[in-house]
Amino acid sequence: MKIAICGKGGVGKSTIAALLCRALLEKGYKVLAIDADPSPHLARLLGFKEADKVTPIAEMKDLLAARAEKEGPFYSLNPKVDDLPEKFTLVRNGLKLMVLGAIKEAGGGCACPEQTVLRRLLSFLLLQSKEAIVIDLEAGVEPFGRATISAIDAVLIVVQPYLGSIETAKQIAKMAKDLGVKNIFFVGNNISDKEDIVFLEKELDSPLLVYFFNNKDLAGAERSGQSVIEIDEPKKIAHLLVEKLEKQLSTNG
Ligand SMILES: Nc1ncnc2c1ncn2[C@@H]1O[C@H](COP(=O)(O)OP(=O)(O)OP(=O)(O)O)[C@@H](O)[C@H]1O
Ligand SMILES: [Mg+2]
Repeated sequence: MKIAICGKGGVGKSTIAALLCRALLEKGYKVLAIDADPSPHLARLLGFKEADKVTPIAEMKDLLAARAEKEGPFYSLNPKVDDLPEKFTLVRNGLKLMVLGAIKEAGGGCACPEQTVLRRLLSFLLLQSKEAIVIDLEAGVEPFGRATISAIDAVLIVVQPYLGSIETAKQIAKMAKDLGVKNIFFVGNNISDKEDIVFLEKELDSPLLVYFFNNKDLAGAERSGQSVIEIDEPKKIAHLLVEKLEKQLSTNG
């Protein structure tokens, strides 16, 4: 399954992406995480210490374009996750991570070439059953404007119980639908009580697939630069999220 995680800035996309990666691994999946945010943080949340050593996948374009001017930069790669060049992947405890690439200079322009590489990579990789790609997207609606995620199986829209986050979530849902994504789900985050859930579901006019409660340990781990994937309570929700995704994807395709 190819899953993209999106939502307004700061709603918990990277945290939930990291938890989801871990839960998928624990359920026996081979997992490739892709940090597609131009200010990447996923590596730290997953516990990778050497994130700066990885070559951003945006550079695949330069590497391969010369060899493949006509066919495009992916023709000479094997379309299996296992065969991705080591240079572009970090591996830790069985989890693979790729980083799209940060914009290094002020005024460095839009991330369009990177987005093209990501789009091609996503449509190019052929997954076996029990293989998963989890993409932590840039905040907001931008990735959907660029059709980056058209080749994915499901979009998870992280949403918190406040109107700004809900507005963005609805906008993303519409854009994802227009791009032809079949499985679009809302995931609640930073939930305090039942009232928050009722508010969210009413405003979204849709049920939440799962919801994560406000959890001080998650925020504490992030503040001290630790991984968030071993924290008990959100970990259980992440397992539930995998079960629900499996069910929905087997029903909807
Ligand atoms: N359920 C939660 N309970 C408490 N704190 C949380 C929860 N989820 C996320 N946070 C905290 O909120 C902050 C933002 O989370 P995170 O970085 O995952 O968001 P994001 O959507 O990826 O942000 P960005 O848009 O900047 O990429 C972090 O400090 C994180 O620890
Ligand atoms: Mg993030």
